[in-house]
Amino acid sequence: MGSFTKILIASIVAYIAVKWTTPGFDPESLRGARVLVTGASTGIGEQMAYHYARFGAEIVITARREKVLQQVAEKCLSLGAQKALYIAADMASDSDPDKVVDFALKKLGGLDYLVLNHIGSSHVRMWEGDVEHTRDLMKVNFLSYIQMAWRALPFLEQRKGSVVVVSSLAGKMSNPLVAPYTSTKFALNGFFGSLQHELAMKKSNVSISICILGLIDTDSAMEKVRGITKVPAYPATDAALNIIITGATRQLELYYPWYTYIMTIIKDWSPFVTSYIIQNSYNYNP
Ligand SMILES: NC(=O)c1ccc[n+]([C@@H]2O[C@H](COP(=O)([O-])OP(=O)(O)OC[C@H]3O[C@@H](n4cnc5c(N)ncnc54)[C@H](OP(=O)(O)O)[C@@H]3O)[C@@H](O)[C@H]2O)c1
Repeated sequence: MGSFTKILIASIVAYIAVKWTTPGFDPESLRGARVLVTGASTGIGEQMAYHYARFGAEIVITARREKVLQQVAEKCLSLGAQKALYIAADMASDSDPDKVVDFALKKLGGLDYLVLNHIGSSHVRMWEGDVEHTRDLMKVNFLSYIQMAWRALPFLEQRKGSVVVVSSLAGKMSNPLVAPYTSTKFALNGFFGSLQHELAMKKSNVSISICILGLIDTDSAMEKVRGITKVPAYPATDAALNIIITGATRQLELYYPWYTYIMTIIKDWSPFVTSYIIQNSYNYNP
């Protein structure tokens, strides 16, 4: 049996084992849950808001565009949310991350889930020395996450709450054409991985779930990768539901879709195979 076949079989067995040992999800556990979702005006965040609404949660959503947030909040109420409030905020600002957490705590009277999902816009292209853009993206995609988590932690502790971090396969293995984005996702995985250990060592009540996503069919992602990659995109609504279940069942990690887990394993066992797969999944003609 060739080494690639062995890796594939071991990955599939490991994936099935993880799935079997996953605790069951009780949708009732989300009825009345107090949830803050960032980046909820579009894409996966918007879909998460709708799922939480269907489960009967109390939701605060945030992003920069107030009008769009208002429409999403109205739809949440029509889908069954017990509360749906919104606050416009820019995660590039020093003060808005704290302002959003304080707003949610005040309006909901506490917090069960802090779902960190927003990302600043970035291009899909070769790195050409744009340090300023990388610095700005780090602020939005990483620093605001840790600022919000720190602000919310004492309140999550009171309610045996959870931080749910929406990350990416790009934060587990480097991809071409997205160096600044990839850096922010590696930073997230590293930081929140450390925090998972520290909270466990302190016997904290708070769980942290890190969600590793592959390509998802949101408008913004599809626009960026059109004509560039052959990787199949998975549905945002399904990704959103899997993220919510991962948080609700207090799992450490989510890999969605299935191939993200296999790629994560293969990259350490066989860097050559991984590099080959990655470089050949892009249409790039110099
Ligand atoms: N889609 C994929 O293929 C994919 C793959 C792997 C991982 N992910 C992860 O999944 C998450 C969601 O991705 P997505 O595709 O759903 O993204 P998206 O559709 O581009 O949505 C991004 C959200 O962030 C908000 N946002 C942008 N800049 C902001 C800022 N400065 N301050 C506050 N909010 C800001 C946007 O709303 P406003 O413009 O109104 O501010 C929007 O609500 C991200 O963490 C991403 O890394 C996605």
